[in-house]
Amino acid sequence: MIAKFSLLALLVVVASASPVTQDTSMVNYGEAVEMFLDAWKKMLPCGYAPDNIPVMAPLTVDFYAFDYNNGETNIVGNVSNIRISGLNNFQVLSGSFNPNTLRSTYDVLYPEIQIFGSYEVEGVISIAGFPVPIRQSVLINKKLTDWRFVGDYTFAQSLSNSNGLRISDFNLHYFVGDVKVDNWDKYLDIAANNYFNDIFGSFSLLFTQEIQPYIKPFYGKYVLPSINNMLSNLSLTQLADYFASQAEIWNNAGCAVQS
Ligand SMILES: *[C@@H]1O[C@H](CO)[C@@H](O)[C@H](O)[C@H]1NC(C)=O
Ligand SMILES: *[C@@H]1O[C@H](CO)[C@@H](O)[C@H](O)[C@H]1NC(C)=O
Repeated sequence: MIAKFSLLALLVVVASASPVTQDTSMVNYGEAVEMFLDAWKKMLPCGYAPDNIPVMAPLTVDFYAFDYNNGETNIVGNVSNIRISGLNNFQVLSGSFNPNTLRSTYDVLYPEIQIFGSYEVEGVISIAGFPVPIRQSVLINKKLTDWRFVGDYTFAQSLSNSNGLRISDFNLHYFVGDVKVDNWDKYLDIAANNYFNDIFGSFSLLFTQEIQPYIKPFYGKYVLPSINNMLSNLSLTQLADYFASQAEIWNNAGCAVQS
């Protein structure tokens, strides 16, 4: 279920281009992608059980317990009442598909992602070989604003099937406008909570900048092989048909929930 679902999510990222350039021979791919994203957005507040897609607007986790130990780090804890909203409010700021070069560009913005919930954790973590006891009971209150994905990808002939496709070039940059963390750990006082919230907020922004150079190699190694494997049996027309028919299926389910 997870595999199928994450492939769908990946397709959404890959497909995040709406047609600006239109050409009679290729008009279908661009249109199909636009229909797909529109249907995806409308479906998220309901999910789609036949494809094992959970409700994702908001995305909620009632309770999840974890127990992790690797010899030096031993922690138990749980996460509860998680609620992530804003996943369906993305906007396609721009997109294009060039039928001659088969290159697509995309620029997608999530104006606001809000995360509420709580977690508890207890145990010992190993930091540079030193055992550090931790005990936290935290109410999570975190907001990401202007989370933006900009990039492009190019279709080429599959290496394993001359009738199929692959993505030969893929670029993704992402930016976060602001990260506001307003967590509350009941074991800490106000000053300590403020201190950690400042650190986590700045760290999240810094982390976003620092990982940029690693995104492309990461996708190249872990994500593109499975996407290319799926694409290898599809022509551009078949891919367009897939997006269009998936859009129709979700639209026909008629999600009327407002998130
Ligand atoms: C996890 O959840 C249970 C049940 O709500 C609770 O009793 C327990 O103390 C929690 N915390 C940890 C650290 O396991
Ligand atoms: C592609 O098609 C071939 C032959 O029909 C099949 O053996 C293979 O499993 C398919 N690959 C994928 C990824 O669907």
